[in-house]
Amino acid sequence: MDDKKTLYSAIQPTNNLTIGNYAGAISNWLKLQNDYNCYFAIANMHAITVRQNPAELRQKTLSMLALYIACGIDPAKCCLYVQSHVPAHAELCWVLNTFTYVGEMERMTQFKDKSARHAENVNMGLMDYPVLMAADILLYQAQFVPVGEDQRQHLEIARDIAQRFNNVYSPTFTVPEGLFLKVGAKINDLQEPSKKMSKSAENPNGSVFLSDDRDTVIRKFKRAVTDSGSEIIYDPERKPGVSNLLSIYSVFSGKTVEEAEREFAGRGYGEFKLAVGETVADKLAPIQSEQAKILADKDYLNKVMQDGAERAARAAGRTLFKVYKKIGFYQI
Ligand code: TYM
Repeated sequence: MDDKKTLYSAIQPTNNLTIGNYAGAISNWLKLQNDYNCYFAIANMHAITVRQNPAELRQKTLSMLALYIACGIDPAKCCLYVQSHVPAHAELCWVLNTFTYVGEMERMTQFKDKSARHAENVNMGLMDYPVLMAADILLYQAQFVPVGEDQRQHLEIARDIAQRFNNVYSPTFTVPEGLFLKVGAKINDLQEPSKKMSKSAENPNGSVFLSDDRDTVIRKFKRAVTDSGSEIIYDPERKPGVSNLLSIYSVFSGKTVEEAEREFAGRGYGEFKLAVGETVADKLAPIQSEQAKILADKDYLNKVMQDGAERAARAAGRTLFKVYKKIGFYQI
């Protein structure tokens, strides 16, 4: 494992995950887990930047771990852990804060969006969120970070912070690169195909959740907004609705977008939307039953979390030690 390159990613255990999270993140992790030394975290420290119900947050943490495993992420190959179990994240975040400018954080698109949506609680954590994310990645000396398109800006700032620190001291952090899928890095809302599909969408018909049952999945796809004309072709500018459905179909069927276009050539939108819905529902059903089975075995999940936390803490501790030494923290 040691000669493999390191890869890091995480998901917040907030709301229910959507097929966008699956497409942009988990589906890519599945492909990469054999070839990289992978750390996949449950970012519960990021989650509290928006007020959470404590019991739900606890439950979602477990159910997300079960979901990772049910999707096929193998804890024997990858380090799966919960962010708050490794104190080094908060510690490195503090140091990196002193290498990050307030103006940079104010310019982050997600900060601007979230502060508009949660105007009653624009807390420091919301603003500091990208620095914590940089700490996550840099602690593990990750070369690669597979994420969806919406995380591109956060990844850029992580690179800037790493380079800034390396320039002031000496090379300390690996400067990470994002890995974005060509298809699936941005799945859009089924009702408003110009907007990203989100866990917290106002219109629940626009987002398909990994926990949705078959009927719900199919109903949402049947109602999906399509475009003028009748051709089923991939053209995000002119046909955002159809192109989004083709991307979803591609991720969930394993076929390329070109294959999908050929398969649906000459067929109507109704038939197409039903086929996409059925494909997604077919993929989700075994994941859901596996997740339920895994969730019932708390001892197993606790063991995975415990092992993951120990392994992550060892790797993170090495980096933090170096950082503390370089910045002049007296070591005992
Ligand atoms: P989060 O929890 O919002 O999303 C998890 C992952 O899902 C991707 N994603 C999407 N991909 C395609 N289409 C969509 N509609 C869609 N919506 C979400 C996201 O890009 C992400 O990859 N800050 C991160 C979590 C995080 C992290 C990290 C990621 C914390 N620390 C370190 C990488 C490295 C977040 O909130 O993702």
